[in-house]
Amino acid sequence: MKEYLAHHYLFIKSVHIIFVISWMAALFYQPRLYVYHAAATPGSELYATLCIMEKRLTRIIMTPAMLLTFVSGILLLMVPGILVSPMGWIHAKLSLVMILAGYHGILIRWMKLFQSEKNKHSQRFYRLINEIAPLLMIFVVFLVVMKPF
Ligand code: HEM
Repeated sequence: MKEYLAHHYLFIKSVHIIFVISWMAALFYQPRLYVYHAAATPGSELYATLCIMEKRLTRIIMTPAMLLTFVSGILLLMVPGILVSPMGWIHAKLSLVMILAGYHGILIRWMKLFQSEKNKHSQRFYRLINEIAPLLMIFVVFLVVMKPF
């Protein structure tokens, strides 16, 4: 198994990066939809269309891409030579990834509130929230590429 993973290391890493990009694209776009949704009148055609867009983005891209990022990331961890000292970068990276996964869960909770017409937040709130995923992603990429500690 370890030999197989080592042989396919670059292929798995490419797959990992493809799913990371897909997950991040969805995490960046979903709160943008909430900005428009917060201004739409409940019951209007726009409100209903945004509900459908958010649900499809979550089911077709956001959640599958997160799961496949995790699966490919765990396979990379199993490649011989990856989990060797210094390992601070991987602990820091995984902590930030857990925050991203929690943010993913919160976005789904807010989507459900929109669906039941119970959104509590303003457009400004969603604009601010929209900065979280890009910031975390920047730190994760520097950590994993530079492995500073
Ligand atoms: C459970 C989730 C994840 C795990 C277990 C994981 C683990 C890994 C491992 C072990 C590597 C290989 C490092 C190396 O080749 O030295 C890697 C590469 C990479 N990961 Fe992740 N990762 C996860 C999620 C993410 C996320 C969310 C992002 C971005 C936001 C990300 C971005 C990257 C990038 C850009 C690389 C390529 C680094 C390079 O080639 O130097 N990963 N990941």
